[in-house]
Amino acid sequence: MAPNSKKHSQLVKIAFIAFLGVSLAQALTVEVKEGNTTCIKAELSALFSVVYSVSNGTRMVSVPLPDSATVGSSSSCGGDSRAPSLAITFGSGHSLGLSFSSDDNQYKVNNLTLEYNLSDSTTFPESSTTGLVTLSAASTEILAGINTTYRCASPSTVSLGEGGVTVTFYNVRMEAYMPGTDLSLNETICTADQTVSTEVLPTTTAPKTSTMTTAPVPASPGNPERGNYPVTNRNVTCLLARMGLQLNLTYTSSPLNTTVQQIVNLNPNHTTNTGSCDQNSATLWLMEERTNLSFSFVLNSTTNKYHLSGISFSAVWPDMSERFSANNGSLDYLHGTLGRSYMCSAEQTLFVLTSFSINTFELQVQPFGVNGDQFGAAEECQLDEDNMLIPIIVGAALAGLVLIVLIAYLIGRKRSHAGYQTI
Ligand SMILES: *[C@@H]1O[C@H](CO)[C@@H](O)[C@H](O)[C@H]1NC(C)=O
Ligand SMILES: *[C@@H]1O[C@H](CO)[C@@H](O)[C@H](O)[C@H]1NC(C)=O
Ligand SMILES: *[C@@H]1O[C@H](CO)[C@@H](O)[C@H](O)[C@H]1NC(C)=O
Ligand SMILES: *[C@@H]1O[C@H](CO)[C@@H](O)[C@H](O)[C@H]1NC(C)=O
Ligand SMILES: *[C@@H]1O[C@H](CO)[C@@H](O)[C@H](O)[C@H]1NC(C)=O
Ligand SMILES: *[C@@H]1O[C@H](CO)[C@@H](O)[C@H](O)[C@H]1NC(C)=O
Ligand SMILES: *[C@@H]1O[C@H](CO)[C@@H](O)[C@H](O)[C@H]1NC(C)=O
Ligand SMILES: *[C@@H]1O[C@H](CO)[C@@H](O)[C@H](O)[C@H]1NC(C)=O
Ligand SMILES: *[C@@H]1O[C@H](CO)[C@@H](O)[C@H](O)[C@H]1NC(C)=O
Ligand SMILES: *[C@@H]1O[C@H](CO)[C@@H](O)[C@H](O)[C@H]1NC(C)=O
Ligand SMILES: *[C@@H]1O[C@H](CO)[C@@H](O)[C@H](O)[C@H]1NC(C)=O
Ligand SMILES: *[C@@H]1O[C@H](CO)[C@@H](O)[C@H](O)[C@H]1NC(C)=O
Repeated sequence: MAPNSKKHSQLVKIAFIAFLGVSLAQALTVEVKEGNTTCIKAELSALFSVVYSVSNGTRMVSVPLPDSATVGSSSSCGGDSRAPSLAITFGSGHSLGLSFSSDDNQYKVNNLTLEYNLSDSTTFPESSTTGLVTLSAASTEILAGINTTYRCASPSTVSLGEGGVTVTFYNVRMEAYMPGTDLSLNETICTADQTVSTEVLPTTTAPKTSTMTTAPVPASPGNPERGNYPVTNRNVTCLLARMGLQLNLTYTSSPLNTTVQQIVNLNPNHTTNTGSCDQNSATLWLMEERTNLSFSFVLNSTTNKYHLSGISFSAVWPDMSERFSANNGSLDYLHGTLGRSYMCSAEQTLFVLTSFSINTFELQVQPFGVNGDQFGAAEECQLDEDNMLIPIIVGAALAGLVLIVLIAYLIGRKRSHAGYQTI
């Protein structure tokens, strides 16, 4: 069920980006300097959707940020109680302004301003009003660690005011409060590039003549890579785990001020594993820079059966307004027998709380009775056994078919042979 729709949304997203990339200009590069120091640098593409009044109603136009855009004189590196800001001017008096703020760890765009000139009749034909319109928004998704470059290929749309005017950014690389004159090599990748998000993006009701509406489809992160996470206790491996992990969490994103759902793969390359083992309990700890996850297993020494009894999770992501944590100590998953491993190649979901679940892929664990560094005999999950039935049925059907053809051939051969003899 899920894989198809995931693939589909990925395709739609790729198509959307490809469409933008082909039909519009390349990313624009701009920078703000003061003396010899560069404080803001950006490579970005943007698309403006503006709704304006004409004599018989309203009309919407979609305008890409042109290559001919330049850095406006109101740009500044800040200081004297002014915020660093980037103003990009284009066409007949249009401009896009981004102003930044920072704390010790992060910087963000805290004010996005669009100014457009309705007197420009090439861009806004038949506008019933003239003059400059200025709209602004206080929150954008542009947020990154200090001394890192913000990178976001995915489209992200900001609504300005209530009139359906939007700015969609894509293919963005940008840094403010720069330590050097070039974009930092360390990057903060936006969550949309890593994950699915289901927040409702603003859509505009556009007349049929307009070329584009703005509702980019978020992507799925694909299947997670499989990690190897053993636990050793006094030089002895006591727990073995190999699996791909995908986190599914729902939390309040502070830049958006809305609830978002994120699907994030745990990258084994950035994950450290530790843990502890006891007679009847074993715990695996997985830590990423901003994420902690633990799995607790218990062994019933009467029955010699084990299971996953607890998961605890915490995360402090850049766009979280507060630490996210989810604990459940009364789970009942991954049943196995002492000395054997539990295996599930199929995707399996471990529900922890309504706001948090984990999807496991190609999982094999053995929390007790590990002998050396090898998994014991595997006990397969029901899902795998069900999946195994399909090839068996197909194989049996094929074998049956071959048998029927063979018999038919032999009978046919015997008949024609017999016929030949009688002539
Ligand atoms: C700016 O650069 C010029 C020439 O590259 C150099 O002479 C000058 O000292 C620099 N100024 C500062 C403040 O670094
Ligand atoms: C408004 O007028 C334009 C041309 O003058 C026409 O193409 C458009 O369909 C009209 N829209 C409405 C809502 O009548
Ligand atoms: C707005 O556009 C009109 C027509 O192109 C132009 O004459 C005017 O100077 C523009 N306004 C600004 C502030 O650039
Ligand atoms: C953004 O900045 C402009 C110019 O400084 C200001 O007029 C506007 O009120 C600000 N908007 C928000 C939402 O803070
Ligand atoms: C950022 O880089 C500058 C210069 O390399 C350094 O002085 C500063 O401490 C760094 N800040 C952070 C938060 O890493
Ligand atoms: C990237 O960040 C890491 C840790 O935050 C730091 O150790 C490293 O020096 C940074 N690399 C560059 C090229 O700034
Ligand atoms: C653990 O293993 C290392 C090398 O494999 C060895 O040097 C060390 O003495 C061992 N420690 C204990 C407590 O057995
Ligand atoms: C993530 O969790 C939500 C809520 O439990 C669920 O509706 C959704 O299908 C899950 N998505 C994935 C990819 O597991
Ligand atoms: C976030 O949204 C709530 C209601 O939706 C509102 O009361 C609150 O002021 C908003 N906070 C910010 C920082 O915009
Ligand atoms: C992890 O590292 C391996 C080897 O360096 C690399 O092939 C793989 O793509 C990396 N995986 C991720 C998700 O970055
Ligand atoms: C072990 O399993 C048996 C049989 O299911 C049960 O009666 C017993 O309470 C379990 N022991 C523990 C410590 O959970
Ligand atoms: C993860 O655990 C470590 C060690 O207990 C702690 O220092 C860190 O703050 C935790 N991180 C999160 C995101 O909870």
